[in-house]
Amino acid sequence: MEKVIVFDTTLRDGEQAAGATLNIDEKLEIAKQLERLGVDVIEAGFPISSPAEFEAVRQIALQVRKPIICALAHANNQAVDRAWEAIKDARHPRIHVFLSTSDIHLLHQLRKDRETIMTMACENVARARKYCEDVEFSPMDATRSDPQYIFHLLEATIEAGATTVNIPDTVGYAIPEEFAALIKGVFENVKNIHKAVVSVHCHNDLGLSVSNTLSAVRIGARQVECTINGIGERAGNASLEEIVMGIHTRKDFFDLSTNIDTTQLYKTSRLVSELTGFTVQPNKAIVGLNAFRHASGIHQDGILKERTTYEIIDPKSVGLPGTTLVLGKLSGRHGLRARLEEMGYTLADEELSRVFEAFKELAEKKKEVTDRDLEALMAEDRRVISEVYHLEHVQVSCGDHSVPTATVRLTGPEGQILEDAALGTGPVDAVYKAINRLVGVPNKLTEFSVKSVTEGIDAVGEVTIRLESEGMVYMGRGAATDIIVASAKAYMNALNRLILSRAPASKIGEKKPRK
Ligand code: KIV
Ligand code: ZN
Repeated sequence: MEKVIVFDTTLRDGEQAAGATLNIDEKLEIAKQLERLGVDVIEAGFPISSPAEFEAVRQIALQVRKPIICALAHANNQAVDRAWEAIKDARHPRIHVFLSTSDIHLLHQLRKDRETIMTMACENVARARKYCEDVEFSPMDATRSDPQYIFHLLEATIEAGATTVNIPDTVGYAIPEEFAALIKGVFENVKNIHKAVVSVHCHNDLGLSVSNTLSAVRIGARQVECTINGIGERAGNASLEEIVMGIHTRKDFFDLSTNIDTTQLYKTSRLVSELTGFTVQPNKAIVGLNAFRHASGIHQDGILKERTTYEIIDPKSVGLPGTTLVLGKLSGRHGLRARLEEMGYTLADEELSRVFEAFKELAEKKKEVTDRDLEALMAEDRRVISEVYHLEHVQVSCGDHSVPTATVRLTGPEGQILEDAALGTGPVDAVYKAINRLVGVPNKLTEFSVKSVTEGIDAVGEVTIRLESEGMVYMGRGAATDIIVASAKAYMNALNRLILSRAPASKIGEKKPRK
């Protein structure tokens, strides 16, 4: 069966989403998971945009060897050179050159004419091609550009060395039939199109990104650009899991396949949600909490008789953990390890000991520890490993007739114990003020949300926050059965990320030994 190339841009377009702030380690972790997922191309970033972005792309190029590692560049010499420097050690490097082509962009943003754009595009594709065999070109805002101009430009850039030509619906303006017609036009009017792969890149402003992508695939596009959970600029990009499961589930219609290991989809979605702080909506196709939940009696009856009556996808095929084992306070290390392995986590002994300790603590508070609780424990463990300051203890006193007061104890970068107290307008405010007195990094809290990981009064609460400092946004998450403790952990997580992003590890002092 013919293959569709899956080009993942979670780390580039996805990370451009407002409020997404991934550090280098997190980008690497996502890139490694994307490799396990089986994506063909990882767009790792936009190296010229900042030194940190450059370094993240470089590290991914060095450490993630199976997929093609792609770096984005404007159509200018410095950007192309910087992109190449970042990916030159990749096993399979690709440079992706882009330039706007719509009259709206040419007139108001670039203030250049079509001829100049044509020259810039060709020169920089040729420059990229001198460095690298694999070069992609994108005419930005293609769906609002003059199609005849796009056809000429694609022909010229393929002539200049582009091996993939990508048609972006940059502002999510296209309608599926219209987009399919544009792709058909590309095949019919670009004389040398057989020398390049035709790719599509759809944004979701009208909620049509996946439909547009699939309609282009139907016409012959053989690369799809997408992101995990559909994250990206504004309303986001086409969602990888939806496109892939569309192609897999409707093989009868598309007669195509991908290299994706679909059983890794759920895990990848959870990881990206966890690290970006973007919660997946419950009704999200494929990976949402309710995607395989049947509430109506008629549906439940049908499912019990035969799963396919109301399910077009087997939840196991996307890696949704089917609960076979319920864990509780009598469960041992082996039971925990087995369950985590079924969920796709392989733990070293030291890691298992830490998670087991946290599991026991939770099991004392909750009768049944569910898979979602275990995911929260795993996420919590990941957060604690990369700490500069560690929350040892938090205590609050509050009520409708008292002034909320918090006492906080932290371990500092050199292992020193730090303790302080503060008053606040509420218990969380008091805790955050006390932490600020100890850590001393000016910042502004811009977002605070709390949700329960599972149902029930004993549920684990998960707090997500964002704070701003010196123009940068930092996300933090924390989970605990006590939401004040979860709030304190989320704040510490954001502050630790902020501090780590500013100072090299060597300047922070010895990492605190783990408990
Ligand atoms: O949406 C867009 O046009 C892009 C390009 C850089 C491909 O992201
Ligand atoms: Zn885009």
